[in-house]
Amino acid sequence: YVVDKGNHRHFMVKEIHEQPEVVGHTLAHYLDLANGIAKVPSGIDFAAIDRLSITACGTAYYAGFVAKYWFERLARLPVDIDIASEFRYREQPLSRNGLSIVISQSGETADTLASLRYAKGEGQKIAAVVNVQESTIAREADIRLPTLAGAEIGVASTKAFTAQLSVLAATAVAAGKARGVLSAEDEGKLVRALSEVPRLMHQVLKLDEQIEALARELAKVKHCLYLGRGTSYPIALEGALKLKEISYIHAEGYAAGELKHGPIALIDEDMPVVVIAPYDRVFEKTVSNMQEVAARGGRIILITDRKGQEAAAIDTLATIILPEMPAIVTPLVYAIPVQLLAYHTAVFMGTDVDQPRNLAKSVTVE
Ligand code: AGP
Repeated sequence: YVVDKGNHRHFMVKEIHEQPEVVGHTLAHYLDLANGIAKVPSGIDFAAIDRLSITACGTAYYAGFVAKYWFERLARLPVDIDIASEFRYREQPLSRNGLSIVISQSGETADTLASLRYAKGEGQKIAAVVNVQESTIAREADIRLPTLAGAEIGVASTKAFTAQLSVLAATAVAAGKARGVLSAEDEGKLVRALSEVPRLMHQVLKLDEQIEALARELAKVKHCLYLGRGTSYPIALEGALKLKEISYIHAEGYAAGELKHGPIALIDEDMPVVVIAPYDRVFEKTVSNMQEVAARGGRIILITDRKGQEAAAIDTLATIILPEMPAIVTPLVYAIPVQLLAYHTAVFMGTDVDQPRNLAKSVTVE
């Protein structure tokens, strides 16, 4: 693996563009595409597990947050999701038949490693979704679930995130089948949907210019809100994290339904609201939230698909239209426009995109 920027200006944008490839690679490792099967990782008996606890930091935590929705819905498996720095000191009682999943790109994050050790001490089996295979977390886990993202150099995580989502989606489908929640036919459909992700990502990467033009506007603001529901909620959180990390614009991600419980007080024309809303089962609910924003003069950047655009029928500052796709794949594909938006905004701001101030690629101290 050669680590250079190639024709790209920054590692981050190179890594964004590598996603169809690394996601395809990672999925091929976890799926038997020819037979429409999601492979159960060896060492995990999903039928015998009664609870999952997922622990990670930052972007890896958001990948785990998406996975909570998948495991609960597809495998009817209850999931606790925690930020590692909270989990490690909370002394949470862990189920005797539970499985702990830690997620880490570097495999060296201090709080995530401490969480792994805590859970191990409590008798949990540990599976690690990890990108660096020689890392401490990879070594100490009972089961390794590698992400095949290659070296990630940009401090802002991009391809590691979608590779983590790939592993977790495939594993959630495998769990659903093993627990008798999904039929072989359901499994086949989901596997086929996942296999389409690289192609969908390629299509979405073509929206780069439109997103760059929009970023020119975003670079003028001081604050920005991101909203989403269901699996788009963690993507809203991730979008906000990306923007603040590299552009230093203050951004917050919220569950769309929480808007009226506080953040709506902030809405005015100076604070754009990025809404991540594929046309899915919660779409109509998100439309009500957009109407609340519009009624208060808020400017909306809507990321949706053609059906969503038609159904929303709302004035926006910009609408980014993605292809239509099955619900299971939306978090993977919708991650790309929020990454590109943060990237181009940061470039307009003139920040050090790959090495943003005050941040380290891997946080090995508490
Ligand atoms: C993401 O863009 C971050 N820089 C950061 O939140 C990161 O995801 C977090 O520190 C966890 O790192 P890890 O995946 O290496 O454990």
